[in-house]
Amino acid sequence: MVTIEVVLGDITREDVDVIVTAANESLLGGGGVDGAVHRAAGPRLARAGGAIGPCPPGDAMPTPAFDLDPPVRHVIHTVGPVWEGGGHGEDKILASCYRRSLQVADELDARTVAFPAIATGVYGFPAERAARIAVATLRSTPTNVHRVRLVAFDDDTRDHLHAALTASAG
Ligand code: APR
Repeated sequence: MVTIEVVLGDITREDVDVIVTAANESLLGGGGVDGAVHRAAGPRLARAGGAIGPCPPGDAMPTPAFDLDPPVRHVIHTVGPVWEGGGHGEDKILASCYRRSLQVADELDARTVAFPAIATGVYGFPAERAARIAVATLRSTPTNVHRVRLVAFDDDTRDHLHAALTASAG
């Protein structure tokens, strides 16, 4: 079974095989975590994203990690749902982001993967609800990945992720 850890920090500094970024459909780069990942990976990341995109919400697509520091070898670009109040399939799309990213990580033979709190920034998904979906989906998806690191960028997100993890363990 996959081990899930919660950490506070910048996902571009993670010592993992794969980092996931919360992209938009174009895969050409954006702000937030995607901006940080594109800055760290260099301009080839946008070119590679543009070549494989667009990516529909809920799906995930890989590129090389380019200038990101080893051991990171790949970036998985996933597109979350834009929050529209919760009645427009947002939960299912968010769960699909985590499931598809883990499946793509398996295809890449990754053992360690870092995720940001997908859709909880610009896209407006409530952080507590997102944390429960993230943990439940990661726990229920069969995978060869050994370790998932859920990287929070602020204390509230970290606390929600911790609570979701504790609740799912009990
Ligand atoms: N490391 C880890 N997490 C980060 C970092 C970072 N360096 N920078 C920001 N975050 C966090 C945010 O605080 C938030 O909790 O990532 C989470 C997701 O926020 P966004 O990056 O805004 O992603 P999302 O809500 O999915 O919106 C996607 O934003 O930048 C655009 O191109 C992107 O249009 C797309 C949209």
